[in-house]
Amino acid sequence: MTVDPRPADAVIAWYDVHARDLPWRDPGASPWAVLVSEVMLQQTPVARVRPVWESWVRRWPAAADLAADSRGEAVRAWGRLGYPRRALRLHEAATAITGRYAGQVPADLPSLLALPGVGDYTARAVACFAYGQRHAVVDTNVRRLVARAVLGRAEPALQSAAREMALVEALLPAEPAQAKRFSVAAMELGALVCTARAPACPACPIRSRCAWQSAGRPAHDGPVRPAQRFTGTDRQVRGLLLDVLRRSPDAVPTEALVAVWDDWQQRHRALASLVDDGLIAARPDGRYALPDC
Ligand code: ADE
Repeated sequence: MTVDPRPADAVIAWYDVHARDLPWRDPGASPWAVLVSEVMLQQTPVARVRPVWESWVRRWPAAADLAADSRGEAVRAWGRLGYPRRALRLHEAATAITGRYAGQVPADLPSLLALPGVGDYTARAVACFAYGQRHAVVDTNVRRLVARAVLGRAEPALQSAAREMALVEALLPAEPAQAKRFSVAAMELGALVCTARAPACPACPIRSRCAWQSAGRPAHDGPVRPAQRFTGTDRQVRGLLLDVLRRSPDAVPTEALVAVWDDWQQRHRALASLVDDGLIAARPDGRYALPDC
């Protein structure tokens, strides 16, 4: 007779065979390198993050290295990852880590949460992946995985993060090293197999006990999250304007920015919001530059 392993063990066994070899998962990755990866991976796919993360940790191997460089260089090196305020928050976090913690990324959740740009997910991810602590680490992929496997729903409900967190806590192995392995394994299963649009159920290690599978994979019946448009949005215009500054070693005149977008009202709005966010500095001579550059 074969013994049915616990779901966590089945997920871990699957991960042992199918995990992607991602550099921030390397046991030698420093807590700082892990923090950078987790901030970059928020809202951005692994394939886009990887080269930018590699160049960041090569250039700024410790928090103090980034803190000693300018905010503008952090924004420049962010490249086209999107949501570039994350680069400023990482620079602020590097400054706080250097000033408050002698350059060591703190290990406890309250201190991590007090860092700029670090929310509940990132704090838990760093405490778990960088320091081996036992915490539930629940990103959108893990939320979807437990919504299906445990609740039998195609998608998590809109306001149910606390519920999925409790479900993951209940599945988490007691031993911290196994809990860490389970946390990364569940993320990977959600990213590679239990995907939003085309779940590969035949490849799933917990298929036989998945509540969604048993229920015949019912379609999502709740409100649909609105799709995020990009083309023509202020976010696109902000990206184009910021690109001009990233590519220029010096401050640029307004004319260089005018060229990227015809609609002057939208261009003005995007530029003003970049200045407001501190991503671009308006010089007294009318030119624009990355901050402190
Ligand atoms: N490994 C550790 N954290 C991760 C994340 N946020 N996304 C993908 N792989 C990871």
